Amino acid sequence: MIQMFSISKTYPSRITVLSDLHLEIQAGEFVFVAGPSGSGKSTLLRILFGAEKPSSGEVIVNGIRLTRPGFKKIHRLRRTMGIISPDFKLLENRNVMENVAFPLEVKGHAPNEIEGKVSGALRRVGLQQREKDSILSLSAGEKQQVVVARALVDDPQLLLADEPTGVLDNRMTEEMMEIFSELHQKGTTIVFATQDTSLVQRYPHRMIPLSAGGRGVVEQSEGV
Ligand SMILES: Nc1ncnc2c1ncn2[C@@H]1O[C@H](COP(=O)(O)OP(=O)(O)OP(=O)(O)O)[C@@H](O)[C@H]1O
Ligand SMILES: [Mg+2]
Repeated sequence: MIQMFSISKTYPSRITVLSDLHLEIQAGEFVFVAGPSGSGKSTLLRILFGAEKPSSGEVIVNGIRLTRPGFKKIHRLRRTMGIISPDFKLLENRNVMENVAFPLEVKGHAPNEIEGKVSGALRRVGLQQREKDSILSLSAGEKQQVVVARALVDDPQLLLADEPTGVLDNRMTEEMMEIFSELHQKGTTIVFATQDTSLVQRYPHRMIPLSAGGRGVVEQSEGV
């Protein structure tokens, strides 16, 4: 599902976040990307959904080479993905249902199909009672439940989840992990970025460690 060959990422600020990273993730795997704040977890995920280009190396996701992506290819790739990321905020002028329906509308699904999928996704995260509510009326944890419902509403082949449980309490975190486990059992490939080492210890999935060294390995030499 995912191949990364010798990926490096240096931001214009000359901070090298990822350095010569090799990574293969098979279809159907559940993988944690773990490391402290600033280690490059979000950068890695943003490369995988085409929001960021690596400075060097090759990335292939679901058969699409992302290194020099055209807009159409990114668009096609994202149709098969569920993305949980601070890059994709909820639309505050739409209610809960409308937010979850949004990716289906973009893909041109029929209204009755959208309705069924949206109520299924909201039931899955436990928000069916809130479907008509404004986003502004939700707690941070409930907003995150909407984000998760939106990511899984169209049964993605690949779920890229950046700190999906970051704002959730213990009970909600357990419920969310249960949802991800079900998805995994149904065959979804999951890449789950977290700083929460206790989560990584509790769930027996492969872990890709990003080191604290990623916290700004600033290049020493100027102008080289
Ligand atoms: N657009 C950017 N421009 C410049 N530097 C950036 C940019 N995005 C991230 N960085 C830097 O790259 C490093 C890694 O950031 P990243 O967001 O990938 O880390 P992270 O592991 O997701 O951290 P956190 O756990 O806090 O979310 C940080 O030092 C950050 O300041
Ligand atoms: Mg991050």
